[in-house]
Amino acid sequence: MKIGFLKESRKGEKRVAITPTIAKLFGSKGFEVLVEKDAGKASNFKNSTYEKVGVKVLDQADIFQQADIVAKINPFEEEEIVQLKEGQTTVSLLFHLSNPNTVSTLSKQKVSSFSLDAIPRISRAQDMDILSSQNNLAGYKAVILGAYEMSKIFPLMMTAAGTITPSRVLIYGVGVAGLQAIATAKRLGAIVEATDIRQDTKEQTESLGAKFISVDNTGEKEEGGYAKEASEDYKKRQKEAVDKSLFDADLVITTAFVPGKEAPILISKEQVEQMKEGAVIVDLATGQGGNCELSKLNKVIIKNGVKIIGTTNSPESVATNASELFGKNIFNFLKHLTNDDNNFKWDLDEEITKSTLIVHNGTITQ
Ligand code: NAI
Repeated sequence: MKIGFLKESRKGEKRVAITPTIAKLFGSKGFEVLVEKDAGKASNFKNSTYEKVGVKVLDQADIFQQADIVAKINPFEEEEIVQLKEGQTTVSLLFHLSNPNTVSTLSKQKVSSFSLDAIPRISRAQDMDILSSQNNLAGYKAVILGAYEMSKIFPLMMTAAGTITPSRVLIYGVGVAGLQAIATAKRLGAIVEATDIRQDTKEQTESLGAKFISVDNTGEKEEGGYAKEASEDYKKRQKEAVDKSLFDADLVITTAFVPGKEAPILISKEQVEQMKEGAVIVDLATGQGGNCELSKLNKVIIKNGVKIIGTTNSPESVATNASELFGKNIFNFLKHLTNDDNNFKWDLDEEITKSTLIVHNGTITQ
């Protein structure tokens, strides 16, 4: 089976869905790997490095012509979809519920399309979980970004000229990104506190040595490990429980999402006004509206001396590692979907296949 990887076309995207190391793994499993020319350039993988591990580096048109599976990170664009041939298979993020037009165009080409963002959150799918591998890096990078923008250091430091007290970091949302942010801020020596609507995150927070700020979540719903939208009552209780830590914090990292909805507003303009001068907020949810009322995507806003960095959950700024993990996720995913002869199993009753197969031979399945 020939698998062709495209160069990402989205503006600002630096990642690539395959690295030379992962291409070697595909090769050892009997796949033939094709990569579009310069696909790895922005994440520091040269064409010649792919070629050294047996990859064919081709122009885009040749990938569409030769590949059985065409793979990339971001959802396929119209100009790419029209080049697909009947019977080909695509693998990428699709966010099918938010992108019905893309799904419909794919179905018109009579292809089969898997969506990597629809991989179920079950333990046997953990090594294919693209959202986790990427959000983990985003959590790390958020702390580094915050540290860079702060005018204070993280650790306690005793010097001849006096003692520097450690910085206080507050994290909203203890999912994949939040947990990595806690671990990173702790490693740098900060005093870390975190809060989440899901109570089982208390133990995870404490196991990393941070303090969990509990908010009574009676009556709040959760589904498949994901939070549902919080009630107004919960938001009020959260404010009461967390405000003191928010107003004392030097760095605040927000990572709270609710699947299929705008991100919840957890920090209002009025709350920002009561924060310490020089404090920094890194809002990882800005792509989905933001957890801070004042956040603006890809902008730094300064309000009453508080710096608010509006960023997304995309770890493009660490493209080398992000590509490596993304590639390994795709490798594990395709290993799962194919048999020993590298043909698709098409086991439509199996949970991972069923959840991710959005178009099957031109028919939209969900
Ligand atoms: P996410 O990115 O959807 O949300 C981040 C965090 O924000 C969540 O912990 C959520 O509870 C929290 N949140 C939402 N609304 C909030 C509010 N109003 N106030 C405070 N916090 C709020 O979550 P992510 O990172 O995708 O993880 C979701 C779950 O999936 C976790 O339980 C995680 O352990 C689990 N998971 C399981 C995997 C597997 O078994 N394959 C892989 C990855 C995650």
